[in-house]
Amino acid sequence: MAGQIPQRFIDDLLARVDVVEVVGERVQLKKAGRNYSGLCPFHQEKTPSFTVSADKQFYHCFGCGAHGNALRFLMEYDKLRFPEAVEQLASRLGLEVPREGADDPRAQARERKRQEGVNLLELASSFYRERLRMPEGQSAREYLARRGLSEEVQRDFGIGYAPNDWEALKRHLSAREIVEAVQVEYGLLVQREDSGRTYDRFRDRVMFPIRDVRGRTIAFGGRVLGDAKPKYLNSPETPVFHKGRELYGLFEARQANPRLERVIIVEGYMDVVALAQYGIRYAVATLGTSTSEEHLSRLFRMVNEVVFCFDGDKAGRQAASRALETVLPQMIDGREARFLFLPEGEDPDTLVRREGREAFEDRITCASPLSEFLFDQAARGRDLARVEERERFASQVLKAASRLPRGMLQTVLLGELARRTGVDQSRFEALLARDEGVAPSLAEPNVAPAASSTGQEVVGHVPPAKGASLGLVARVLQLLVHEPALVERLPGEDDWCPEGDGDAALCRELVRLLRAGRYRSPQVVLAHFQGSAQGERLALLARREMLIPRDARAQELDGLIEHFRRHQRRPSCQEQIDALLAKQRSGERLSPEERQRLMTLLAELGS
Ligand code: UTP
Ligand code: MN
Repeated sequence: MAGQIPQRFIDDLLARVDVVEVVGERVQLKKAGRNYSGLCPFHQEKTPSFTVSADKQFYHCFGCGAHGNALRFLMEYDKLRFPEAVEQLASRLGLEVPREGADDPRAQARERKRQEGVNLLELASSFYRERLRMPEGQSAREYLARRGLSEEVQRDFGIGYAPNDWEALKRHLSAREIVEAVQVEYGLLVQREDSGRTYDRFRDRVMFPIRDVRGRTIAFGGRVLGDAKPKYLNSPETPVFHKGRELYGLFEARQANPRLERVIIVEGYMDVVALAQYGIRYAVATLGTSTSEEHLSRLFRMVNEVVFCFDGDKAGRQAASRALETVLPQMIDGREARFLFLPEGEDPDTLVRREGREAFEDRITCASPLSEFLFDQAARGRDLARVEERERFASQVLKAASRLPRGMLQTVLLGELARRTGVDQSRFEALLARDEGVAPSLAEPNVAPAASSTGQEVVGHVPPAKGASLGLVARVLQLLVHEPALVERLPGEDDWCPEGDGDAALCRELVRLLRAGRYRSPQVVLAHFQGSAQGERLALLARREMLIPRDARAQELDGLIEHFRRHQRRPSCQEQIDALLAKQRSGERLSPEERQRLMTLLAELGS
């Protein structure tokens, strides 16, 4: 029985394996200075933003933010659990993984329970599948046939049947020595509060196993065969199932096509399997919840295109607005999100059956891109001929744009907003730039105050943005991060850099590194600082758009240095000498650097 792996062992392991080697076996890496770079395995991309640092023993993707050490990489890439990843690394070095407290009864119990959970749900799943094939499964088979599901699709999705019996599963599992408490814990049995009696949660239902990305059953959804309520019953939250995180059909979609490029998010189990039946094997469904950030970040690590599918009614539009809000911060360059609205009264299941695969895929192809949906939504119910309404329209779009990561989509969106409002694009850009991280303080779009509908309220024009503008040293940092080669334009000494500026120390450090000559791309610069407060500061600056053409950057940098020099009242040679001598006289020892400096100053004075 496995106990805890001692932390000492893990530390030792990490010190002995090379992350570059581990990653390099799975991702093609090219040496870039001290680091390595390649195409990120966790999201789709065409130009490498994935770096691996041998010095720091971590990987980091500047595109999707994936990062970690060798263990984390194995867990993410090979979909391993932590102890499995440790085992794998250890076996590379021919090491045995020690376990702490293997005799500790509590550790033993924990481990036993985990195993039981996994086995138990697999057991239940095969139980349901078997029952579907037996005589008692006849009505369910007929139901599935009526809904037009082929045996092939039933098999691919592991569909089964829970018999119409209060204790069928309980008997089956208990005969395999699985204690009832565990069956309750994993949601298969329900326990009555009053009597403590237990019985099967799912009875006389078609059963859809919900699997994790590795294909292990973690929960179930069960549908009644008729019109009884509730139509669907789902497993409760359990140690292995968290509703807001899982997507039904994701494992099956990846099985059908390991190089999945696009995913369509629909509402129901039946939609997923019906689409699969018609050859559209890239649909997934949330489990009765709205699409969460976690759903999306998981999807975007596997595909670069996500299509949201909604009913054409008001509820559908509201759901779409929520989805838009959730997806905005994740729209880094290269990703695509689109919005598909179905005719009222249809769902993907009914529609694909009526129209067939091609027509349905045409709908997917024609689904609104994010920008189009955003503009449509902002314009909805507004008379854009009126100035006030146009301002609200612009505010709403701008607010959404401020939630986008810096990148092409944001730029294009602002261009389009400028075109539609007749306001200069640079106005919008300035607002966003000054408001880094803070939504512009424009009128709140969705909860417009009642007065505004009368048009009487005074709606100002684009008001001044909140938030401090970028400091000048920060601007130097930003220029250097975006274009490290600019370091060559800086004066030989760092004395131009104003003391007292919060970014001064970081600026000097960056300049020193760039001078050392190793860092020539923004990615590598950021990788060097990654994980520190300085790294966060630089990443923040790197994300900001420069807002000036590339060929104007050198000139701006020169201008900044010039400015610093002019505004810096630097102590004269004599003043510096006096200060050093005063220090010495006061009995304080001068540091070797200070002594050297004093010598130089005296020599300068003498020459
Ligand atoms: P729908 O009612 O749209 O289901 O609910 P559906 O997929 O179209 O089902 P059919 O076609 O009538 O068989 C969509 C999703 O909402 C959750 C389920 O995840 C379902 O797939 N739901 C719905 C429940 O959890 N419980 C319910 O009672 C109803
Ligand atoms: Mn349906």
